[in-house]
Amino acid sequence: MEARRELFGGRSAAILALAGSAIGLGNIWRFPYMVGQTGGAAFIIIYLASCLLLSLPIFLAEAIIGHRTHSGTFGAMEQLAPGTHWKWLGLLTVLSPLIILSYYSVVGGWSIGYLWQSVTAGFHADAIGTVSSAFGKFIASPGRPLLFHTLFLLGCAWIVSAGVKSGIEKFNKVTMPLLFVLIVVILVYAVSLPGARAGVTYLVKPDFGKITPSAVAAAMGQSFFSLSLGVGTILTYASYIHKKENILVTGLGTVAFDLLFALIAGFAIMPAVFAAGIEPGAGPGLIFETLPYIFAKMGASAPWLSAVVAVLFFVTIVFAAFTSAISMYEVGVAYLVEQKHITRRKATVLIFLGTWTLGALCSLSFGPLAETKIFGLTIFNFCDRLTSNFLMTFGGLLFVLFVGWKMDRQAVRDEFTCGGTVRFNCIVFDAFWFLLRYIAPVAIVIIFLTNFFA
Ligand code: PHE
Repeated sequence: MEARRELFGGRSAAILALAGSAIGLGNIWRFPYMVGQTGGAAFIIIYLASCLLLSLPIFLAEAIIGHRTHSGTFGAMEQLAPGTHWKWLGLLTVLSPLIILSYYSVVGGWSIGYLWQSVTAGFHADAIGTVSSAFGKFIASPGRPLLFHTLFLLGCAWIVSAGVKSGIEKFNKVTMPLLFVLIVVILVYAVSLPGARAGVTYLVKPDFGKITPSAVAAAMGQSFFSLSLGVGTILTYASYIHKKENILVTGLGTVAFDLLFALIAGFAIMPAVFAAGIEPGAGPGLIFETLPYIFAKMGASAPWLSAVVAVLFFVTIVFAAFTSAISMYEVGVAYLVEQKHITRRKATVLIFLGTWTLGALCSLSFGPLAETKIFGLTIFNFCDRLTSNFLMTFGGLLFVLFVGWKMDRQAVRDEFTCGGTVRFNCIVFDAFWFLLRYIAPVAIVIIFLTNFFA
C-alpha cells in the first residue's frame, strides 16, 4: 500500500501532464481527417466554439471532482456521495479508459511500425493505391501489428510503473515541448510544398453551407475525444494537482495547448494532402495512407529531406500517443492501488495483461478475426464506437450532472475560485455554472442521440 499520494510538482507540470493526455492521436490522426470529411474551415469554427462553450466546462467539472477529493474515480465518488449509485460512475470511468487504451495501443503500435519503416526502408510508391494496399496488408498481417502493440503497451507500463512524479511528470515534461517543436518543423515543411496554398485556403475560408447538424455533433464529439473527457483521466490527473493550484488556469492552459496543437497539425497535414493532389475526405486512413504517399512522392526530388520529415512525423505521432495512453493507464493503476491496496508495480502488470489481451483481439480483428462481429462490427470498431460514441458522452453527462446538480454549489464555487480568493474566477463562476447546469447536459444528449441514430 502507498502511504502518501504523490502530486505533480507545480502548475506547469500539471498543465503539461493534462495537455499530454489531451494531445494525442485525436489531434494528429482524427482531427485532420474529420476536418477533411466534414467541411474544412466551417468545421474548425464549430470546433473552436464547442471546445470553449461545451468541453471546457465539462473538463473543469471533472477536474473539480479530482482536485477536491485527491482521489481516483471510484474513491472520489465514494467520498462525495458515499453509499449511493454514483459509485457505478466511478467504476464505469475505470473501465472505459482501459477499453480505449486497448485499441489506442493498436494504433500506437501501427505508428511505431511506420516509424520503423521510415527509419529502415522509407516509403516508395508510384500511386496512392500502392500505399493503401501496403497499409491494408500491414494491419491484416497478424504478427507485426501484435508485436508493435506489445511494444507500445510495454512502453506505457514502464513509464506508469515509475510513478506520478518520476514517471508520468518527467516523461511529459520532456516530451510535450519536443512535440510542439516537431509539429512546427513539419508545418513549415508542409506549407512550403508547391501547391500547398490550396490546403491553407481550405482551412481558412469557411463554407457555411457545410454547417449541418451532423457536422455540429461531429465537432462536439471530436472536442470530447481530444480533451479526454468523460472517462476519468482528467479527474485522475487533477487529483494529483496541489490544493493551492487554480483549476481554471489549468483548464484554460490545457484547452489552449490542445487547440493550438490540433490547428498546427491540421495546417501541417492539409496543405501536404492538397499538394499531393489527394482528396481531403479520405477518412481514417488519411495519415497512414496518404502521408507515406506524400513522403514517397517528395522523396523522388528531395530524398533526404523527405526521409527526415517522415521520421520526424512518425516520432511525433508515437510520442503524442504515448503521452495520452499513459493517462488512461494511470486511471486503472490508481484504482487498483487505492481501492485494492496492491503495489503500483503489481497494478501496472495487471492492467498490462488486461489491456494487452483486449488490444490483441482488436488488432487481430483486421486479419484472422475479421469475421468475428459484435452488433455487426469488428472487435476494433466495436470498442472504438462503444467508447467514443457512447461511454465518453455518457460518462461526461454523468460528471456534469454530478457537479451541476448533486454537488453543493458552494463547494464547487470554492474549488473554482480557490476559496473565493481569485477575483477573476469569482466573476466568471456564474457563466461556468450556467453552462454546466443547462447547456452542457443538453448538448451532450444531442451528441448522444445523433451518434445513436447516425
Ligand atoms: N485525448 C486523446 C487524444 O486526443 C485521447 C484520449 C481519450 C486520452 C480519452 C485519454 C482519454 O488522442
